[in-house]
Amino acid sequence: MKRFVFAYPGYESLTEKIAQLNGIEVGTAHWGHFPDGESKLKVLSNVQGSAIVIICSLDRPDEKITRLYLFTSLLRDLGVSKITLICPYLAYMRQDKVFEIGEGISARYHAKLLSLMFDELITVDPHLHRIANLSEIFNIKTEVKHAAPFMSEWILKHVKDPVLIGPDSESEQWVSQVAKGIGCPFTVSEKTRLGDREVKIVMKSEEVLKNKTPVLVDDIISTGRTMIETILHLKSIGHHQAICVAVHAVFAEQSYTQLQDAGATEIVTCNTIVHPSNRIDLTGLFKF
Ligand code: R5P
Repeated sequence: MKRFVFAYPGYESLTEKIAQLNGIEVGTAHWGHFPDGESKLKVLSNVQGSAIVIICSLDRPDEKITRLYLFTSLLRDLGVSKITLICPYLAYMRQDKVFEIGEGISARYHAKLLSLMFDELITVDPHLHRIANLSEIFNIKTEVKHAAPFMSEWILKHVKDPVLIGPDSESEQWVSQVAKGIGCPFTVSEKTRLGDREVKIVMKSEEVLKNKTPVLVDDIISTGRTMIETILHLKSIGHHQAICVAVHAVFAEQSYTQLQDAGATEIVTCNTIVHPSNRIDLTGLFKF
């Protein structure tokens, strides 16, 4: 069966690399707009009967979802047989419970919508906390890839005597894997979230940091508060080096510069979301 891989605008570079890795043709489409701002989409490749892969991370998801809905509907009308979404960052996974009366479980609603549009979804380290498995919320086949081996490789190559610090108990699943790949120690702190932009971090073990380079490891950097508070704590106990390594560079508002200003020695992320901090290329995860 003929296969095409299409890039959502902004994901051309990752799409080219994935297409090359798999020997698949890159599909051509125009993702334009009408003068009033509504989307004007056009598929130029002959896709009838073919299997389609679309590359699009779902950070800042709301506009992308509408455009992906229009695009997948168009592809179905053109007679494609299967549509897979490679979505290196899966949005809304942190809204996995009703936090305040009147709110909902957006992770579920979002998954339901994607399940209507796609036949299969492949993602990288989704934020699985109260939802243990994507099959609990998706009605389609899903596959989860892990960035840990690539993060270990980067840290091994670039950091002397690392000790990894995870900000909270949820992070243990990533931090322990990354530490195992390096063969270095790790510790996990206790985090209390006091609001969307406020967290409190308490480190459980400081002894493990002795003569080591602290590397903060997390799945997502969003407001940056988790990493900033950890850096401030490290400084208060005499550690002035802190390398921040994360999978997903969400970086809300001014958080990237705020994290730099807080004293991060280096900020390194995987290329699941296009960002200047991307240093770890995960293309190798997407071999079909
Ligand atoms: C939280 O549960 C995640 O694992 C991250 O620690 C969190 O998303 C980081 O958020 P922020 O950068 O806003 O502190």
